[in-house]
Amino acid sequence: MKSSDPQLQGKRNNQRPQTQRPADTQDDWWKYGVIYQVNVRSFFDANNDGVGDIKGLTAKLDYFVELGVAAIALTPVFTSPMSDFGFDVSDYYSLDPAFGDLDDFDALIREANKRGLRVLLDIVISHTSVQHPWFLESKQDRNNPKADWYVWADAQADGTVPNNWQTTFGHPAWSWSSTRGQYYLHNATSRQADLNFHNSEVIAEVLNILQFWLERGVAGFRLDCPNLYTHDKKLRNNPARRNMAAIPEEALINPFEYQLQIYNQNRPETLPTLARIRRLCDRYEAALLGSVTSSATFEMLNIYSGSQEGLQMANIYEALPSVCNLPGLVDVVRTFEENCDQVWPYWMLNNHDVARLVSRWEGDHDAPRLAAIVLALHLSLRGTPVLFQGDELGLEEAYIPFDNLCDPYGKLSWPQYMGRDGCRTPLPWDDNLPQAGFSTHKPWLPIDPRHLSHAINVQQKDPESVLRRVQRFIQWREEQPEILLGSMSIIHADASVLLLLRKHKGGRLLAAFNVSYEPAEIELNLPQPPEVLNGHGFAGELRDNRIYLPPYEAFFGRLP
Ligand code: NOJ
Repeated sequence: MKSSDPQLQGKRNNQRPQTQRPADTQDDWWKYGVIYQVNVRSFFDANNDGVGDIKGLTAKLDYFVELGVAAIALTPVFTSPMSDFGFDVSDYYSLDPAFGDLDDFDALIREANKRGLRVLLDIVISHTSVQHPWFLESKQDRNNPKADWYVWADAQADGTVPNNWQTTFGHPAWSWSSTRGQYYLHNATSRQADLNFHNSEVIAEVLNILQFWLERGVAGFRLDCPNLYTHDKKLRNNPARRNMAAIPEEALINPFEYQLQIYNQNRPETLPTLARIRRLCDRYEAALLGSVTSSATFEMLNIYSGSQEGLQMANIYEALPSVCNLPGLVDVVRTFEENCDQVWPYWMLNNHDVARLVSRWEGDHDAPRLAAIVLALHLSLRGTPVLFQGDELGLEEAYIPFDNLCDPYGKLSWPQYMGRDGCRTPLPWDDNLPQAGFSTHKPWLPIDPRHLSHAINVQQKDPESVLRRVQRFIQWREEQPEILLGSMSIIHADASVLLLLRKHKGGRLLAAFNVSYEPAEIELNLPQPPEVLNGHGFAGELRDNRIYLPPYEAFFGRLP
């Protein structure tokens, strides 16, 4: 199954792009470069069938080069019945025909390499589609070769489900198979059966899959929910949460939130598997990002990514709340720094599972300016920034009428919860073209008319657009060792202003942000004022040892 083109084999991604970065940031690209999560389905549709594809992505690679990102991380592209839009895989060794084929993929890697861009894949291996041939075989009877590849359990004496586990989408995590006369476990929808990570053949196959794609030249993986890989063999009931008051009210519509997930996920048995995955990836100098979704994030971060045996980077799920504001974000940053100083995180303030940030941010705001200042803050945190497609345009959450809903989670919980389609709509390329230049065909999700004024062609013409500002900021960031590598502490924070200190070797960089429509001032009280840094595109000023921040502006200075 390997590529026959010798040029495509092995460690192709090791040439480093030309950069002005400080000398000590030339290794570990994944630590210093910005990563961009591409929602392939909605990026660009080259074959005009309404669904974005790999050829479309390849055609637009220069967009990423201009933006200045180091790598793109693709949402799942493997063959799938798409009941959860690729998070339900039925063949890990092929691309879904909607996205293209392996030749298209190889061409993507070749073209990306030419531009010094790395490509990461999203590996969803905690579960497969129920249409995967492994599951179809497994459910036949209790003795077939794949019988133990999934998590099967007998009904209780009264016929009910084996235990109290709930899916993340909010219903019992067990479904019945009449062929086998048993229940199978699914942490997501009933169309997504959980693989049995207690079975060594399953783990060997996971390593084969990863190696197949590493050989094709991918530079790393986002592992979808690695903390869900293993379940408790004894199938013990999860206990109820002790502190229900800590759960945001809107989450109470989901019974999953009522439990402490200690037996269906977050199992220590996952760690040896993760170590084997890491060893394989290290051979290819590939990066591992893990989307660790847990009610105990900070504890899990230390467990999953605090060592050479785990992920290089894990995300901080708390940074994606349903209602955002500066104090909430500062609280997450502070808790992270206090609890996880050995962990290198990746920060996402948006992703394919949550409503777009400018729509989640509390209060009335000038949305493009809010987007620009929050992006600057995001890109100034300790860790790897991962942008989600559309962040760079400051897109707001699209409105999707019920009849157009695609997301299975949304269909289940609408209208209390509108689902995840609103952040997954096609990227607006050109406000003058039908379907905003994404496709000539009706797209799989409608384009919100409000996105036209944010289209890429519009923003490219305006030096003060969110797109141009974030480009400028990414370029500037590349040359600031304290931001790329330094420690981080919070010097001052209030409802709308944050002052960070980033330190690296002898360098000390102050970064101040005003996330509000009112001007703000910060008294510095320093024996010597900082040297004012320019080139980042923000208009904060230093006067008499005070930082002046106009609305939605930032200031950067280096201390002597
Ligand atoms: C986590 C992914 O981020 C989400 O999009 C998906 O629906 C679930 N895993 C289930 O696969």
